[in-house]
Amino acid sequence: MTIQPLSPEQTYPLRHAVLWPDKPYAFVRVDNDHEGHHYGAFENEELIAVISLFVYADDGKLVARFRKFAAHPDWQRKGVGSQLMQHILKEARRMGATRLWCDARLDAADFYRRFGMQPISDVFYKGPIPYAAYAVELSEHS
Ligand SMILES: CC(C)(COP(=O)(O)OP(=O)(O)OC[C@H]1O[C@@H](n2cnc3c(N)ncnc32)[C@H](O)[C@@H]1OP(=O)(O)O)[C@@H](O)C(=O)NCCC(=O)NCCS
Repeated sequence: MTIQPLSPEQTYPLRHAVLWPDKPYAFVRVDNDHEGHHYGAFENEELIAVISLFVYADDGKLVARFRKFAAHPDWQRKGVGSQLMQHILKEARRMGATRLWCDARLDAADFYRRFGMQPISDVFYKGPIPYAAYAVELSEHS
């Protein structure tokens, strides 16, 4: 498996198929996708998982947020997502971010806890799906 940078457009098929298959295709675009860093995991030239990282200034500090994290169903629970998480943790640090956060689907919360992420918000809903914001301070965890 290799991890390579992607264009925003390359992430859309997996974003749509895995995360929001019942929504219109355009739903998985993010307004500021062009400002993001997009990464894909490839196995034998097949794109099997995607993640998008956004680094921005907040209150005088650089903060990193990842969005639209999705592994093809045939490739879930095989370690691919963990490798992408390690990659964006490294990239976020390299870009100088002091915190990494995401809006986490609660059914993936145990996955995020494995990377030191903790809830920083109450539960909220996007449609029927429960979420909470999860974050890790990059100075304290790998
Ligand atoms: C969440 C996701 C990106 C994780 O990637 P992955 O490749 O499946 O995860 P990995 O195989 O690297 O690691 C999984 C580990 O976390 C644990 N885990 C806990 N909750 C999990 C969950 N909801 N999904 C996957 N793994 C989970 C597993 O037990 C596993 O540990 P193990 O290998 O010791 O059994 C992927 O499962 C996925 O695309 N899920 C559907 C879409 C989704 O929920 N995206 C996140 C939206 S916030």
